[in-house]
Amino acid sequence: MISRKKGRFISVEGGEGVGKSYFIQALRKELDAHLGYAVRVTREPGGTPIAEKIREIFISPPQGEALDIRTEFLLISASRAQHVKEIIFPSINSGHWVLCDRFIDSSRVYQGMIGGLRDDALEQVASFSAQGLEPDVTFLLDCDVETALARIQKRAKELGATANRFDCEQKEFHEKVRAGFLTLTKKFPERFFILNAELQIEELIEKSMAFIKTRLMY
Ligand code: TYD
Repeated sequence: MISRKKGRFISVEGGEGVGKSYFIQALRKELDAHLGYAVRVTREPGGTPIAEKIREIFISPPQGEALDIRTEFLLISASRAQHVKEIIFPSINSGHWVLCDRFIDSSRVYQGMIGGLRDDALEQVASFSAQGLEPDVTFLLDCDVETALARIQKRAKELGATANRFDCEQKEFHEKVRAGFLTLTKKFPERFFILNAELQIEELIEKSMAFIKTRLMY
């Protein structure tokens, strides 16, 4: 594993429609103001040109053939391997802070708890592709599913945004996603911090910065 010096690695997780992107942009601004150097914002699956190509297959697989859950996970893992090697490790090794929209916890929920992949197999492949890297802190944006689904619909109407294949799943699926992330907060209590996604952005930033200050600014 490549050595880590000063940078910090923060992931942001949550189901569809909880406002991760907006939160990440606001947190980046706040961290910029406090740290005095650029914070690197990135996302999974994706984050490098090769990883983004892999993301395309994962998000919109060609019609007529179902994406097997193992294939799905291996695609995500391949994109993660590239992303960790090319972006995340170099950034934290050079002292930058990295803010990542989703990371391995999303695989644990979507491909593991929901997709049914075996825990031990998933953990081994996930750790292999990420070279053992886990976030220092993970913010979980959590709110009830109806609120999140209403946001997805509103976003689609206002921005003409296209729904991805996960957005289109039934309510029951989104309930499982929510429950899955909440289970992970109990499994990894030391790095997870739950944020009520219905709070105003100013409050979300205030709470997350307080957590960052106690956990990461040493
Ligand atoms: P995206 O359109 O970026 O959705 P969101 O804005 O909600 O993040 O699509 C990313 C999708 O990828 C999202 O539905 C969750 C899924 N995903 C997994 O299934 N496993 C993973 O390991 C990751 C990182 C994402």
